[in-house]
Amino acid sequence: MSRRLFVTTALPYANGAFHIGHIMEYIQADIWVRFQRMQGHEVHFVGADDAHGAPIMLAAEKAGQTPEQFIAAIQSGRRQYLDGFHLEYDNWHSTHSPENTALSQDIFRRLKAKNLIYSKPVEQFYDPVKGMYLADRYIKGECPNCGAKDQYGDACENCSSVYAATALTNPYSTLSGAKPVLKTSDHFFFKLSDPACVAFLREWLELPGRLQPQVVNKAWEWLDGEGDKALGDWDISRDAPYFGIRVPDITEEKYLYVWLDAPIGYLASLKNYCGKKGLDFEKTLKDFEQIHFIGKDIIYFHTLFWPAMLKFAGAPYKEPDHVYVHGFIGVSGEKMSKSRGTGIDPLRYLNLGMNPEWLRYYIAAKLNAAVEDVDFNPDDFIARVNSDLIGKYINIASRCAGFLSKKFAGKLVAVEASNTLIRDLRSDAKNVAEMYDGREFGKALRSVMHWADQANAFVDQVKPWDLAKKPGSDSALQQACSDSIQIFRILTIYLKPVMPALAKQVERFLNVPELKWADANGLLPAGHAIGEYKHLMQRVDDKQLDALFDIQPATETKKETAVTDGTISIDDFNKLDLRVAKIVKAEHVEGADKLLKLTLDVGGTTRTVFAGIKSAYAPEKLEGQLAVVVANLAPRKMKFGISEGMVLAASGEGPGIFLISPGAGAEPGMRVK
Ligand code: MSP
Ligand code: ZN
Repeated sequence: MSRRLFVTTALPYANGAFHIGHIMEYIQADIWVRFQRMQGHEVHFVGADDAHGAPIMLAAEKAGQTPEQFIAAIQSGRRQYLDGFHLEYDNWHSTHSPENTALSQDIFRRLKAKNLIYSKPVEQFYDPVKGMYLADRYIKGECPNCGAKDQYGDACENCSSVYAATALTNPYSTLSGAKPVLKTSDHFFFKLSDPACVAFLREWLELPGRLQPQVVNKAWEWLDGEGDKALGDWDISRDAPYFGIRVPDITEEKYLYVWLDAPIGYLASLKNYCGKKGLDFEKTLKDFEQIHFIGKDIIYFHTLFWPAMLKFAGAPYKEPDHVYVHGFIGVSGEKMSKSRGTGIDPLRYLNLGMNPEWLRYYIAAKLNAAVEDVDFNPDDFIARVNSDLIGKYINIASRCAGFLSKKFAGKLVAVEASNTLIRDLRSDAKNVAEMYDGREFGKALRSVMHWADQANAFVDQVKPWDLAKKPGSDSALQQACSDSIQIFRILTIYLKPVMPALAKQVERFLNVPELKWADANGLLPAGHAIGEYKHLMQRVDDKQLDALFDIQPATETKKETAVTDGTISIDDFNKLDLRVAKIVKAEHVEGADKLLKLTLDVGGTTRTVFAGIKSAYAPEKLEGQLAVVVANLAPRKMKFGISEGMVLAASGEGPGIFLISPGAGAEPGMRVK
């Protein structure tokens, strides 16, 4: 029976590049999706950036950008990772989009109409200098228990006591240093404690096979919590200033909390995709199973709030069919730190020329259906890729293909009925399929490697290299090599969800159309001619791993240039925020013989930049001209004031400095790329 699947991965915050944890999640989901597609199932696989919230608003401000500019720059960096690791999303969208605004406000209104949303006053710390309410992470002070200084607003790192931000002694805002004041404003709440909600969740969680047992247990703990652990209602609004979606139908400027609109972003991406493809969004929602891949840190949102929101919003929305949770990836036994990463930068991996399918294979080999953490171990990585993938699987083709093309024009003979290895291997298709479907990728690959071992034992036993030298052994040689190639083809089918690019090369080499799962039922017919064997995959070199982990800043640049020839990736380039600027004022600077002080209009905002162009330009000539400015350069304190950027100019060996100016029609604020 054919399935129709709407599959998502968690939406990454748009405040940083992808790290290895993201890539692991995407690889897991992508393998599963590719497997389903090979089965002939229909899949819509979508992702998006999670673009809203206070941290992103503040990060943009720090970078001297609007939140829109900031998230656009992050989003433009995504493609290279997705393509680089063969992650076959149908669509990548953003929560900061018209679709998401419409869907989020619609869901809010529907829940409100069902009396599941109410408002009540909330007293909260407010930063009078910054003019905004402060989440706990922006408040520090002295621990009310042990007196330790500079503790965050929720827990003490010194004595581990947990408290409310309002309990801190001498609290201060980490944004401005100001002493926060308590202020009250109305917030909207989602009534998760409503008996109908709780009853629904109990039923939703209990459906056998919907969730992993560990996930159900976790959710039950929350649902069954008592006293101060009891499931409370959910605060779903935030006061301005905030970067998000407006709470609809009220005059006050309030926003939906980012965790309300983020999962709705799954639907927004699907809707955007449907728009592009001319598909009916509501019908698609109704007809497709809805499946979310997420990490263990966000179970709470995905198994309580999200299904309840969808359920009570009503059709066409419907609650998720599955939420599949994975553990965290660490490196050599160390947890990944959000700020330092793991030491594996996925982009660096690609830029070093390391094969993305090595990582896909390695991660797949380590994954199972449980919520277990995964450890990336460099030696283990080398062993799995070199001994298993290349030493076992690739080896089968490389040992046999040459004889076929040299001696028999690549032609195969029919498989002998007595070949039990081929029979057993083919009949394992169902078993391997079940493992993929159940996300037991490690088991699936162990099974494949078991068969590869058997195949190599078979080759060792028939010894094609001896047969090739023995007169009168041609037909035995052709038989042995044909059989090996048949085995190799079936193993390729089993590996294809994990290694799609390699499988494509094999399809070309074997001269066969795109391999589907059902092709494991068949065999290549006698007389089929395979193509020339070209080496399919390089071995990992441990020097590559040294380079991958060498993250000491001193050697970084050297290594980088050695490896990349001084070229930079598009991601590097995208870090530059180049903007068209209009010089509204240019003035001499007293006491400076090279500098002019420029006042620039960068599309609504003005900045002061000191430029060393006095020798070439009279200030009055510059006013009204356009220039190009590096807008995200850290501000620099100079003797004469703070310079907030740099204007681009050309110069050579000889005299003369020449300002770069955009062509006619360019407007201040436009991005230069
Ligand atoms: N923006 C939210 C998710 C919103 S979904 C509607 C978020 N973003 S995140 O960028 O912090 O994380 C995105 C995904 O990456 C999550 O599923 C998270 O569990 C996963 N991972 C983050 N670090 C990870 C590892 N070290 N290992 C594996 N996955 C990890 O949460
Ligand atoms: Zn303390």
